[in-house]
Amino acid sequence: MRLAVTIATLLLTTITAHADSYEEHDYILNCSGCHRMDGSGSSVVPSFQKMPELDGKLGAREYWIQVPGAAQAPLSDTRLAALMNWLVERFTGKPPQPEYRAQEVGRLRSTPLRDPVAKRSQIRHRP
Ligand code: HEC
Repeated sequence: MRLAVTIATLLLTTITAHADSYEEHDYILNCSGCHRMDGSGSSVVPSFQKMPELDGKLGAREYWIQVPGAAQAPLSDTRLAALMNWLVERFTGKPPQPEYRAQEVGRLRSTPLRDPVAKRSQIRHRP
């Protein structure tokens, strides 16, 4: 319990200190635990720096929403759409075309991927 309070306090301090958008708040609270603040990930979590290698390939747009960490995040479709627009722009240099909207995100996240690693590799090897 004390650890939980300490973690919550640390998170809140980080947010007040650095976050200046809802998207960044949502990222810190829901994603940075695994993906890290700078998106570099870990041995089991891919670095967001590698998003450009999928960018523009068939299926990447859908994959980025259907990946379990995004699809199952405790965020509304509207907030997840905004977060993903922010994330894609941050790591590929431009927002998705067209930008994600709540309706598309809601449809995609209703079918999260069973094997995201295989899916990623399949998309990556497309021309
Ligand atoms: C519990 C750890 C965890 C959390 C929390 C998490 N992710 Fe992930 N994420 C992963 C792992 C692991 C992968 C690799 C695919 C897989 O095995 O699911 C991944 C992959 C991804 C990818 C694919 C990147 C690529 O190019 O291959 C995206 C996009 C993504 N996550 C977005 C998010 C977003 C957005 C959030 C927060 C709303 C989030 N994740 C929260 C663990 C997490």
